[in-house]
Amino acid sequence: MSADLQTLKPVDLRSVLTFTVKLARIAGTLILEGSQAIQSTSDVNEKKNSVDLVTEYDVAVEELVKSEIAKAYPSFKFIGEESYSSGTRNELTDDPTFCVDPIDGTTNFVHGFPFACISLGLIYQKRPVLGVIYNPFLDHLYTGIEGQGSFLTRGNNQPLKLPLTNPKPLPSLQKALLAIEWGSDRGEKNLISKSDSFLRLAGDPADGIAGGRMAHSIRSLGSAALNISTVAQGGLDLYWEIGCWPWDVCAGIVIAQEAGGAVIGSHAALAAATSAGSSIDPFKVTPDVLTGRKYLIIRAIPDTPNETGREAQLRIARDFYQTVEDVEPK
Ligand code: IPD
Ligand code: CA
Repeated sequence: MSADLQTLKPVDLRSVLTFTVKLARIAGTLILEGSQAIQSTSDVNEKKNSVDLVTEYDVAVEELVKSEIAKAYPSFKFIGEESYSSGTRNELTDDPTFCVDPIDGTTNFVHGFPFACISLGLIYQKRPVLGVIYNPFLDHLYTGIEGQGSFLTRGNNQPLKLPLTNPKPLPSLQKALLAIEWGSDRGEKNLISKSDSFLRLAGDPADGIAGGRMAHSIRSLGSAALNISTVAQGGLDLYWEIGCWPWDVCAGIVIAQEAGGAVIGSHAALAAATSAGSSIDPFKVTPDVLTGRKYLIIRAIPDTPNETGREAQLRIARDFYQTVEDVEPK
């Protein structure tokens, strides 16, 4: 099937979704095989440091999906984590472009912690428009198409529309279950900054933690894509990370947005969009947000008599960014 580069229509996207889901499930089988094999070997390589891991399966899964995409959609471009790591750095253009992490959660994959997935996003006119995230360990498939909703399919069951339940109001960070990640930059500046942020998110302001929000708790699934999907389904209120890459978040962005979630970039992006007189849409994922490596995803919040859901998401985003520090990723 080929889709005209200039006019990728909703109907084309549905057909791309069918292809992408099939591909994700094939890749999932390879990921499961790889996980079995990797538990009994020490065949794990390091990228930028000893906690930035890659295995032969990351590379094999990426090669598989890249070649299947090239056969089905020869005119589409491709951005993939492992291709990028080995030096293929494709620019973002207006053309349809698959943005792929073959295994998101490689550390989990290596350790047998069952939260790893393949993340396949499609970008068109520099905007994420389609996402498929498949965790083969749990047989959880998340899908989304711009303007057509997002869904979770568990096993052979019917797809469930996201969020899974009617969203509840979110009065404050104190009532929230948050997701954060340690990431792979373990240098002093980055780690102290992140730890200070985590301290304030969790800490009790009445017991010595200045600025503490004492959130209900903090989780780390170890996969950006699965953190975002869980926010989309309503199981987490918010996910924040500095340092991950477009292939970690591209598919998840569509899935979260289609579930009514807010995808916000950096401290600076939020400040620019919410400053007096600004005409910037704070909820628009511009190319700068997509590639900016700083992401804050907030679940759907319903309108109440006092504020709209969008206002509530901005209130939470502002409070969150007042609580945590900005830091430059390596
Ligand atoms: C990583 C995971 C992790 C996140 C890192 C990502 P990888 O991706 O999503 O949760 O903290 O920023 O790079 O290396 O497992 O593909
Ligand atoms: Ca990866």
